[in-house]
Amino acid sequence: MPFTGKLMGMGNPLLDISNEVTEEMLTKYDVKVDSAILAEEKHMPIYKELAEMPGVQYIAGGATQNSIRVAQWMMGEAGQTAYMGCIGKDAFGEQLKGCAQTDGVLVHYMEDEETPTGTCAVLVASGERSLIANLAAANNFKESHLETDLAKEIISSSEIFYSAGFFLTVSVESLLKVTNHAVDNNKIFCLNFSAPFIIDFFGDQVAAALPFADYVFCNESEAEAYGKKHGLGNDGKDLEAVALKVAAMPKTSGVRARTVVFTQGSSCTIVAREGKVTKYDVTPLGADLLVDTNGAGDAFVGGFLAQLTKGADIAKCVDAGHWAASIIIQRSGCTFPEKCEYA
Ligand SMILES: Nc1ncnc2c1ncn2[C@@H]1O[C@H](COP(=O)(O)OP(=O)(O)O)[C@@H](O)[C@H]1O
Ligand SMILES: [Mg+2]
Repeated sequence: MPFTGKLMGMGNPLLDISNEVTEEMLTKYDVKVDSAILAEEKHMPIYKELAEMPGVQYIAGGATQNSIRVAQWMMGEAGQTAYMGCIGKDAFGEQLKGCAQTDGVLVHYMEDEETPTGTCAVLVASGERSLIANLAAANNFKESHLETDLAKEIISSSEIFYSAGFFLTVSVESLLKVTNHAVDNNKIFCLNFSAPFIIDFFGDQVAAALPFADYVFCNESEAEAYGKKHGLGNDGKDLEAVALKVAAMPKTSGVRARTVVFTQGSSCTIVAREGKVTKYDVTPLGADLLVDTNGAGDAFVGGFLAQLTKGADIAKCVDAGHWAASIIIQRSGCTFPEKCEYA
């Protein structure tokens, strides 16, 4: 499939192993509701345990890849989006490739012969999801992959680049290579904070990437964590103030003011740009329709980026983000029906 689009994502490709769990299981593995963490030794048995429970689902995952798949779905014609990351040479890797192919995303994976494809345990309890990522091969993405012919071709034809913050734990060098290309060529770079642990424990990496970001996305708990860590917006209690501060932070490219977008679950989305905050309400979804919130934020970004790629204004981008998120939370994992009905 040729790449005919303008949107490229780079991140950690993971296969989600998803199942409904009890509160006891969360307690047993010391997992907080609605959290996202990297697997430690104590979490390792969880993957097998989930797989052996009835109802297990294997779904293509990885935050950036989810957003790109959703954007691709909303844009329709195959080959509008491209994605890079590192997988293993195994069945899970093949499954990810197959999924990308079906969805119309051009994937250009780096392949690690020695390490298995990364997985993410998705623990669904009362509609909320907790994520435990075992990066495995995803952790071995190298800058050298960006020197391959196809990578160069994808990067030079792309106009918008997106990475979830999770990729900051893997290869900041790769990210900076792309962001420098974006700055040098007046292209757009979008970053997601992705999880409080990224802000708290990978602060230097966030600080390295943020100056390049034209768009910053995160949810309310990441916004609060950022405010708390950096003493902004009454230590993260005033999210509008945090958004304004992040928007006003130094920016490497002098062109375009930074746009900061905070989603807040079923509460309004906050957008800050050029000293001004605009709030966009979320259409409430009946509790009976909610299946699981896994991928809500990823889907929001996917919808937003699909419209941004078309040159739409912020209100339209946010509307598409809310719409995409509402579809994904009515289904298990970050999955969508075959046809996109968004107008
Ligand atoms: N309970 C909900 N009801 C309606 N919409 C929701 C709900 N949870 C999430 N969404 C939609 O998904 C978007 C992103 O959700 P959010 O929870 O902020 O992201 P994350 O998945 O990163 O935690 C929201 O802006 C909203 O459009
Ligand atoms: Mg949420």
